[in-house]
Amino acid sequence: MTTKSLILGISGQDGSYLADLLLEKGHEVYGVVRRSSSISTERVDHLLFPDERITLLYGDLANGLDGIIYDIQPDYIYLMASMSHVRVSFDIPIYTLDINAVGPTRVFEAVRKSSLRNKVRIYMANSSEQFGDTPPVQNENSKMNPQSPYGVAKLAAYHMARMYRKAYGMFISCGILFNHTSPRRGETFVTKKIIRGAVRISLGKQSELVLGNLSSKRDFGHSKDYMKAVIKILEHYEPDDFVVATGEHYSIEEFLHKVFGILCLNVQDHVKFNPKYLRPSEVPDLMGDPTKIKNILGWEPEVNLDQLISEMVCDIRNEEKRSEWGITSEREIAS
Ligand code: GDD
Repeated sequence: MTTKSLILGISGQDGSYLADLLLEKGHEVYGVVRRSSSISTERVDHLLFPDERITLLYGDLANGLDGIIYDIQPDYIYLMASMSHVRVSFDIPIYTLDINAVGPTRVFEAVRKSSLRNKVRIYMANSSEQFGDTPPVQNENSKMNPQSPYGVAKLAAYHMARMYRKAYGMFISCGILFNHTSPRRGETFVTKKIIRGAVRISLGKQSELVLGNLSSKRDFGHSKDYMKAVIKILEHYEPDDFVVATGEHYSIEEFLHKVFGILCLNVQDHVKFNPKYLRPSEVPDLMGDPTKIKNILGWEPEVNLDQLISEMVCDIRNEEKRSEWGITSEREIAS
């Protein structure tokens, strides 16, 4: 019988890579997207056109997804949807708590109250932001001291997941993922913003790149690699929690110099500071210890930071070139 996987947040960076990988494994993939007036499915368009290889459904963590879950009767549920921007969470803390903490709880409750309770496996997308200002190296046993509404909400969802696992025997696993990026990354995260800005500067399309705090350090991995880890986490015979990281960290300044170096640009000539990108409280240094996932699930990252940056530079340069030629999307190329 085919395995049915339901991905909440399929149109995001992680959800879309997960869909690619699960289809490769032969799963029947259902994806939930939030309804909005502008179409935002470009990351999964290749799975919709010309053949519909996934089924898209409208839903929202704000309202609960009981109907969808009961109709589809999935074997696996991947909780990838969230309000994912840490700085924005300071502007909308209540919404962030609702989507990132109450939202997953709505899913846990829907499953607990149904006949799926002892059948379905749930993956909960947790974050290294939960560690907050705890100094590196962070692993599954490190103190969690979040510094933002985003981190607090993710930590609440983490505790809820563990509580449902223990109290009701539900199969819920948590992946504590460190910063991960890719060509499919959203434009307002620092890695994509730096690479997009640098490429555009190199093509003469913009002259400045405006950033905030450059001293914080992050452990950067490739989203596709991390989705391979997510699949392994949920396929494991028992539910558990795993840190997913590379074990290396770089400051945003070091990342910036790497990107500008590849494009033969000088950071001092183009990069400006604006305090509006600072956060009321910052997470200074994240570097994960992936020993547990390596030893138990045999997962290791396949892509290093230099390869990741090269892939993103190349992809964004092609995208910028296509837009110069008036080609706006892959869908347009295909038709
Ligand atoms: N976004 C952004 N924009 N960040 C900036 C900027 C800027 O202009 N300038 C400096 N930064 C700094 C931030 O202050 C932060 O220290 C660092 O760059 C990374 O910021 P983000 O790219 O927004 O990512 P994040 O590390 O805060 O959060 C990401 O990783 C988490 C996992 O650790 C997000 O993807 C989260 O959803 C994820 O959970």
